[in-house]
Amino acid sequence: MYNSALQKKLYELIKTHKIKDAAFQERFTANLDDIYTHFHGIYGSHPLAADLFQSLLNSICQAHLDRSEALKKRDIKKEKNGTWFLSQELVGMSLYVDRFAGQINNLPSKLPYLEKLGVNFLHLMPLFKSPEGESDGGYAVEDFRVVEDRLGTIDDLRAFQAELQKKDMYLMIDIVLNHTSHHHEWAKLAKKGIKEYQDYFYMYDDRRIPDLMDETMPEIFPESSPGSFTYDEKADKWVMTVFHHYQWDLNYTNPKVFVEMLGNVFFYANLGVDVVRIDAPAFIWKQMGTTCQNLPEAHQLLQLIKMCVEVATPGMAILGEAIVAPAQIMEYFGTGRYATHECDFAYNATQMAVQWDALATGDIRIMNNAQHELQRKPLGATWLTYTRCHDDIGLGYDDYMIEQAGFTPYDHRSYIKNYYSGTFPGTPAKGALFAINPKTQDARLSGSLASLCGLESAIEAKDAALIQTSIDKILLMQAQSMFVGGLPMLFYGDEVAYTNDYSYLQDPGKSYDNRWMHRPIIDWKRAELIDKKGSIEQQVFQAMQRLIALRKSLKVLADLKNTRWLEIHNNSVIGFERFHEGEKVFFLFNFSASPQALTWYVLNSFGTRPAQVTDLWTKETLTVGMDHEYMHFAPYQFRILK
Ligand code: GLC
Ligand code: GLC
Repeated sequence: MYNSALQKKLYELIKTHKIKDAAFQERFTANLDDIYTHFHGIYGSHPLAADLFQSLLNSICQAHLDRSEALKKRDIKKEKNGTWFLSQELVGMSLYVDRFAGQINNLPSKLPYLEKLGVNFLHLMPLFKSPEGESDGGYAVEDFRVVEDRLGTIDDLRAFQAELQKKDMYLMIDIVLNHTSHHHEWAKLAKKGIKEYQDYFYMYDDRRIPDLMDETMPEIFPESSPGSFTYDEKADKWVMTVFHHYQWDLNYTNPKVFVEMLGNVFFYANLGVDVVRIDAPAFIWKQMGTTCQNLPEAHQLLQLIKMCVEVATPGMAILGEAIVAPAQIMEYFGTGRYATHECDFAYNATQMAVQWDALATGDIRIMNNAQHELQRKPLGATWLTYTRCHDDIGLGYDDYMIEQAGFTPYDHRSYIKNYYSGTFPGTPAKGALFAINPKTQDARLSGSLASLCGLESAIEAKDAALIQTSIDKILLMQAQSMFVGGLPMLFYGDEVAYTNDYSYLQDPGKSYDNRWMHRPIIDWKRAELIDKKGSIEQQVFQAMQRLIALRKSLKVLADLKNTRWLEIHNNSVIGFERFHEGEKVFFLFNFSASPQALTWYVLNSFGTRPAQVTDLWTKETLTVGMDHEYMHFAPYQFRILK
């Protein structure tokens, strides 16, 4: 029903805050009813609901007033370009400030290197205050608004953002929504026994509820932090800690927590962040008897955040880091009436994992079986595509996708894990199992792109041919992420093929977490090798430069629901067509270690086929053969046919 009282409230708000901006008022009017129903749907029966709803509305107005003129201009510019983040011109990189450049202040001097590569979008890994040794790479936050001393200050960050903006580059940072460090102010007050702050977390006097909940909650770090609860001596209570024992889960059944964290989202928005990465959004709502992941209330809260952001800081897009099962990931784009009003981006963790699957088996059928699910992404939302990131690789695709390819899921996954952790006889890959669960035998995988592609063992063996093969594999993986649709996010170091770094084993704050093996410390002396003819660094860097330049030049690569996967004619070669306004480009990938042939018939998949095509990668012109004739692929070769 039309809520006239609510509209009056808005009118008063605008008056009290002396807001003049008509576009802001329009956006607010458009979203107000949904903001109201979402908030009250969750918090309606809470005694503080009315007050906190008022705080939420004030916080939206304040965020608008705090937004700088420069950012408001940028918002308008983004809006004019349609959905700005669907563009093929964006190419990102994730990096740790300390491991890449030491400090925020050193980042500007590294921009020429990134520009040379073609990267124009930076994801700075967590920057905010986090206790040494109990930091989880910055994902255990002690203060959401104070930059970690080692990295610099908030003003350094502001200055760097301004520098990026001048260069028309984009910035992404994380908001760790699900938990805080146990050193966060709220946790410290909770430890002191202050009830108000104990209600910011999930705290229990005994093991009764924790025991019941542990029965259905999967463990995230079963080796280093088994179970989902930790006993805190000071408070003499059991605290919910889904991730590490030092990361306390925030209690979103408490509307104060929500309103405080929304304030932090706005704080980041007004720093000039173009995309905010919501860390672990799948976990923000817990309910006894469930896995406590992907619950409807989690989606409702994310939609509420999104709608508030749409009103106050509309230029900032949202990435949801939901590394869950394929069909579940899709829900983070919003469903039904809220499609494209939840997360603008989601990690394409499914595609990432099936790429690694295909590389290990040389068989692309599982990748193919996953696509019908991924194609359901709504127009207007997009993927973050990647081959590697700072986290482990989970083989999170569905069993049926494996079964449909004729494999047995358990055996198949065991093979993939053995292949990449280096235990399968003769495997070229050097990685490690991560988070082995002794109860279920589940495990995920760590390892750098290069080491998983066999470069580390090839270098050790001093085998030039194997080195070449591993470079081909690296490029095959990167090319697919670059062209499959969405914003490609490189992981720093991969552009020059860093292999695993085992020095983390010497650091007690890191040695329990083998994800550190693939988080390199950049050696800038070594970076000079990108100019040394024939070096591995040069080969990979130059190829990445070319892939990026190609991506930017091809309009068909804007993510406009313009990908069609080709029918399979060879179990090792997969491909898709990207199209835009009459232009068509075919992208074909051979995941096999042997040469393959593919019938020219594939080019019939979608209407009349051309007489001639150019391979934009090898620069060959190919005459399209008859249906019974073949185009050829070297091992791990990909082709881009226009
Ligand atoms: C996210 C991060 C991961 C971290 C976890 C807990 O998944 O990517 O690195 O360990 O959240 O914050
Ligand atoms: C799980 C979580 C994901 C996190 C990862 C860290 O996969 O779903 O959010 O990044 O663990 O290892």
